[in-house]
Amino acid sequence: MIRSIVRGTGAALPRRIMKNADFEGMVETSDEWIVQRTGIRQRHIAAEDETTASLGEAAAREALKNAGLTPDDIDLIVLATSTPNNTFPATAVEIQQRLGMRHGFAFDMQAVCSGFVYAMTTADLYIRGGLAKRVLVIGSETFSRLLDWTDRSTCVLFGDGAGALVLEAGEGEGTIADHGVLAASLRSDGTHREKLYVDGGPSTTGTVGHLRMEGREVFKHAVGMITDVIEATFDQAGITADDLAWFVPHQANKRIIDASAKKLGIAEEKVVVTVDLHGNTSAASVPLALSIAVADGRIKRGDLVLLEAMGGGFTWGAVLIRW
Ligand code: ACO
Repeated sequence: MIRSIVRGTGAALPRRIMKNADFEGMVETSDEWIVQRTGIRQRHIAAEDETTASLGEAAAREALKNAGLTPDDIDLIVLATSTPNNTFPATAVEIQQRLGMRHGFAFDMQAVCSGFVYAMTTADLYIRGGLAKRVLVIGSETFSRLLDWTDRSTCVLFGDGAGALVLEAGEGEGTIADHGVLAASLRSDGTHREKLYVDGGPSTTGTVGHLRMEGREVFKHAVGMITDVIEATFDQAGITADDLAWFVPHQANKRIIDASAKKLGIAEEKVVVTVDLHGNTSAASVPLALSIAVADGRIKRGDLVLLEAMGGGFTWGAVLIRW
């Protein structure tokens, strides 16, 4: 049977690092409050010349290089983002053009922080359906452009960045021993809209708008939703938490990550954490964390890796991969 195998990963971060202390004087906050409540110590913030398209392109080029491939080898680009360069055309098509691709096709997916998990699931289906052989799956965001920099309850939480990987059609036996994407579960529930949304858009205000969030409410739902969708993914694959080599969760808040891992019985040393360095980069957070853990040698061929995310909508989901 056809399996979607991971061939290479890449990451890109804006040049400028903003430390927690840099907020002091801007809003009433402190390094101590931010670290204690979130685990975040710094984040990267895009300059004017750094966009979702340019960061996505840079991450994609690194993933291609690490896979030993060129843009000619790719037939589909799926970009997960909620911060496109323009309302249209899709930023994925701009990345396609930046990579010099005149063949294949490209589109954006919007599921906020769960975007990359949705994009991986979609890319896997295109590959298994025979519509694509090699797919660039990218998560790229410039959430700094959506932030209300006078709102201390949100502006300290987010950062900009991009991560990417190449999925390639390969053969498997249809067992848990196969390499590639093995199982996935996706969920959404629009009744939670008001808890995390952007108060603008082309069809309502005609503006870009700002991110609004009831942080405590999001927190309250996050752990239960995350653990439910992961348990569904474990059941699908017939595995338990003990079988995992690595857990790569969405990097929103260290307390959410710790509570989810604890509830699932995933050992602390199997959890990849980058929220301290990047803040919450929405759809870029999972591929960024993943590419860092691959680059530093933690994730190795044969490892069973679980990706998970939850975000605005609410949307949430998990993907299980044999590396
Ligand atoms: N600095 C100092 N004080 C602050 C700050 C800040 N940056 N932000 C809020 N406060 C204050 C509040 O005003 C409040 O003060 P009050 O008691 O006088 O009213 C106090 O701190 C406590 O506020 P809470 O919102 O109850 O603090 P909480 O412990 O819930 O932490 C946080 C807030 C960090 C936002 C937390 O709720 C959280 O992480 N929620 C999840 C949100 C999230 O991660 N969203 C990302 C997208 S969804 C996802 O990716 C899962």
